[in-house]
Amino acid sequence: MPAHTNATASGQFRIGGDLTVNRLGYGAMRITGKGIWGDPADPAAARATLRRVPELGVDFIDTADSYGPEVSENLIREVLHPYKGLVIATKGGLTRHGPDIWLPLGRPEYLRQCVVMSLRRLGVDRIDLWQLHRVDRAVPRDEQFGVIAAMRKEGLIRHAGLSEVGVEDITAAQKHFPVATVQNRYNLVDRESEKVLDYCAAHGIGFVPWFPLAAGALVGPDSALSKIATRRKATPSQVALAWLLRRSKVILPIPGTSNVKHLEENVGAAGLTLTDADFATLDTQASRI
Ligand SMILES: NC(=O)c1ccc[n+]([C@@H]2O[C@H](COP(=O)([O-])OP(=O)(O)OC[C@H]3O[C@@H](n4cnc5c(N)ncnc54)[C@H](OP(=O)(O)O)[C@@H]3O)[C@@H](O)[C@H]2O)c1
Repeated sequence: MPAHTNATASGQFRIGGDLTVNRLGYGAMRITGKGIWGDPADPAAARATLRRVPELGVDFIDTADSYGPEVSENLIREVLHPYKGLVIATKGGLTRHGPDIWLPLGRPEYLRQCVVMSLRRLGVDRIDLWQLHRVDRAVPRDEQFGVIAAMRKEGLIRHAGLSEVGVEDITAAQKHFPVATVQNRYNLVDRESEKVLDYCAAHGIGFVPWFPLAAGALVGPDSALSKIATRRKATPSQVALAWLLRRSKVILPIPGTSNVKHLEENVGAAGLTLTDADFATLDTQASRI
């Protein structure tokens, strides 16, 4: 397998039924400072990584107003505007008070401010995909879903999604707007969202697994992941991503990096198709952890 390939090889998914993207995307949280706070340690590397994203056929980029905050959206605009052929998905609904501090705020007027400010920072008239970063449990969720539905109708956002939710939240939101994507923590060794993934697959909802590379528990020299990687002349990261791509056609992995080499390596997963036996072995070994 080449060191990197094109994300087109990962297959395509239509977000909200009408926005086609290559399934292997890019997560832009890591182009910020430590604790996802402030500027990146190496701004030139962050910019170079962003420039390389479309060159590798990656056309689905995930960010959030709270990454930095503002830093990730600002860099994306600086390097990639006017986003020819790219879908920039962002999120809102979390406040930041310092490194690694994230607090939900779901009051409708704040969610509206999040969207309006992301529109300004990204330099667009409409956000292709806006996701509620967290449902604020201190605010009635129907109020949060209601303002999202209103902003869709007003044309501020094209499609809307949710993050870190259960099936019950999704069905409640669907009374207000069509849920286009769900973004939950999920990877080979972290399968808590299995039911949510199955629901998404049954309803054509894009499932965006965050923390897709957290397969650390499986990367020892004797692990199934390492053995398969060696046999296929791939890397453990590529095998972890290929497993996600194989797990369901609605999965859109968004591995995050601020390093061009890692980006190229991750996109290489698009060209790696696991055999039935490899998939089953990984599944069995991961379920024992
Ligand atoms: N909805 C939510 O609540 C939520 C939460 C967290 C993240 N997200 C989204 O999901 C995306 C992915 O999550 P994530 O960034 O936390 O986890 P991840 O993609 O599983 O891992 C990223 C980490 O792995 C490293 N890495 C990436 N590719 C590598 C490679 N090929 N070899 C070795 N190390 C590699 C990166 O460091 P280097 O920079 O050194 O490559 C970074 O530290 C984020 O960027 C963000 O867009 C969403």
